[in-house]
Amino acid sequence: SDGAHRYLWTEEQFRKTIPERGRYSHKGSHGRGLAVGGSAEMPGSITMTVHAALRTGAGLVTAATAKSAIPAVASQCMEATYLALGETNGRMNNELPIPFDNYDAIVMGMGMGRHHEARSHIRKALEEASCPLIVDADGLYHLKSLLASVKKRKSPVVLTPHPGEMAMLLDKSVPELLQKPFAYAKMAAEKYGVYIVLKGPFTIITTPDGQQTVTTTGNEGLAKGGSGDVLSGIILAMVLQDQPIMEALSNACFIHGKAADMLIADTHSVYDLLASDLLHGISKVYRTFV
Ligand code: APR
Ligand code: MG
Repeated sequence: SDGAHRYLWTEEQFRKTIPERGRYSHKGSHGRGLAVGGSAEMPGSITMTVHAALRTGAGLVTAATAKSAIPAVASQCMEATYLALGETNGRMNNELPIPFDNYDAIVMGMGMGRHHEARSHIRKALEEASCPLIVDADGLYHLKSLLASVKKRKSPVVLTPHPGEMAMLLDKSVPELLQKPFAYAKMAAEKYGVYIVLKGPFTIITTPDGQQTVTTTGNEGLAKGGSGDVLSGIILAMVLQDQPIMEALSNACFIHGKAADMLIADTHSVYDLLASDLLHGISKVYRTFV
């Protein structure tokens, strides 16, 4: 070992740190979140993200997506609100600005596309949003060329790569990365000055100054498109609920994996589990542990 501080994030820590919901709370007490992503061809990604954020306890969630994707998203999630973005061929363009300052936390990237108009939304968010900013999926591809803007930011940035995306961020191969995931996660967190959630069969969470926690909940039923989008929404909700970012991230990954574990133990198998089933799994986790 290199003597670094690393903790296993357990059930006990989850129980101890999960934020309370006050009897006199209102929707504003639980944060106003924004999710930016999706397209006409990938409306499911942002749908699962906003739905998961609401199910996890976010007060208000807005989905910003290409105008033509909104009916598909809205038909699956009645509680979200929408921000229609201009679009070209079903993908968001940058005709309409996003009011980044109206939110308490923002997640960007899922199914947003890797074209330059999408990138310009990420750059603006980095420059204009004074709240925590979570970047996932396609957003991570844009981020690599925005290192200077990332480093300049005063408020927290959270990156949620799977091993392929992490390898891309570090210009490494996936096998290289997987030989020393803790060390590389730390290297990336320091290089970008960000929190890193390195996903996989176990998930490593790293602070900008190199503290690390590990979550071991989850199972191979999660190895299916969409489970990462659900995690992004759970992270948005936990970051919104006003606790140290490190706890928020650790609890989010704990909930995501535990939701899958409880569904497998009860009603599903690792074959048939779908990412959208995790929305019910979140309820099981709360009913059991809180
Ligand atoms: N055991 C436990 N957890 C797992 C396992 C496993 N065997 N496999 C996956 N998971 C968890 C990960 O820890 C992570 O939280 O499921 C989630 C998968 O997230 P992603 O890899 O981001 O998958 P997702 O985004 O749903 O789908 C693929 O990623 O490559 C991009 O753009 C591509 O949209 C596509 C997406
Ligand atoms: Mg993903």
